[in-house]
Amino acid sequence: THQWRGIIEEYRDRLPVSDSTPVVTLREGGTPLVPAQVLSERTGCEVHLKVEGANPTGSFKDRGMTMAITRAKEEGAQAVICASTGNTSASAAAYAVRAGMVCAVLVPTGKIALGKMGQALVHGAKILQVDGNFDDCLTLARGLSDNYPVALVNSVNPVRIEGQKTAAFEIVDMLGDAPDIHVLPVGNAGNITAYWKGYTEYAADGVATRKPRMWGFQASGSAPIVRGEVVKDPSTIATAIRIGNPASWQYALAARDESGGFIDEVTDREILRAYRLLASQEGVFVEPASAASVAGLLKAAEQGKVDPGQRIVCTVTGNGLKDPDWAVAGAPQPVTVPVDSAAAAERLGLV
Ligand code: F0G
Repeated sequence: THQWRGIIEEYRDRLPVSDSTPVVTLREGGTPLVPAQVLSERTGCEVHLKVEGANPTGSFKDRGMTMAITRAKEEGAQAVICASTGNTSASAAAYAVRAGMVCAVLVPTGKIALGKMGQALVHGAKILQVDGNFDDCLTLARGLSDNYPVALVNSVNPVRIEGQKTAAFEIVDMLGDAPDIHVLPVGNAGNITAYWKGYTEYAADGVATRKPRMWGFQASGSAPIVRGEVVKDPSTIATAIRIGNPASWQYALAARDESGGFIDEVTDREILRAYRLLASQEGVFVEPASAASVAGLLKAAEQGKVDPGQRIVCTVTGNGLKDPDWAVAGAPQPVTVPVDSAAAAERLGLV
């Protein structure tokens, strides 16, 4: 019997590790690529979902974090720090436990989903809520890692990008070649950078014959790349991508331009519509930020930007259980019945 060994063992020859590197893993990666029937019908394309919520801590961050914590361990670090809108901190906290390290996290007060806060807490991270947004947290985290003995594990750490590029490898390995279009949400812009790096490496080595066009989507209230300027007070219900000054901004522009793609915005309303469609019609429960990719694809299709017959992969970045408030909000209250089959059958509309 053989289980998926985690991204470092599966893609060792394409990652910056040596034989003596102490691998810290929760067997991340190897996530499902799920054919999306309803989205395929709506767009006239072959649409797949890369379901990153299936990672050990429920988001794609685990791919980068196995690398970041592994390398921090190799370099003798005893403590790591990150700024986060929630998922990075959940992942860092879990991998730090595996490595026997202290984990410090800086999050914007009141702006991270409850599930993510619960993860950081239960894994024993030292959490500071900062009176500011994610961008302020990142500035603080950089300063602390520059001046104190603590390693920064945000995606400004280049080994995070190395780990995250493996999602592109998995997609090509599964489909036999790169898709025509790859769609994903954009926040701090590390992930679009990582996918582009992965696709570019596979194409350069002839594993894939081509590279996809990269389509990125920001939330309208937090769309600095679309606007071409820093957003001072970013807002969106998709708290994971509530970021006004993305660290990998220039790399995201490079991915967009080199691939012939684009970066656009979707409103919170469009995000929530895609969120509900994914759950109720594809059977895939994601967190709101993740639905930005699908919202973007649907918007592009409505604008006539999607030629039929193409192969499209949408990354859905995080698990719906991270932020269940949006699933419950606005949904009808379940009815209460006595222990009585006739009453239950009536309520279920079976009679
Ligand atoms: N989707 C989810 C669920 C995220 O948590 C993030 C980023 C993104 C998309 C955007 O990815 O930043 O690489 O462009 N979350 C970071 C965090 C910022 O702190 O967890 P990106």
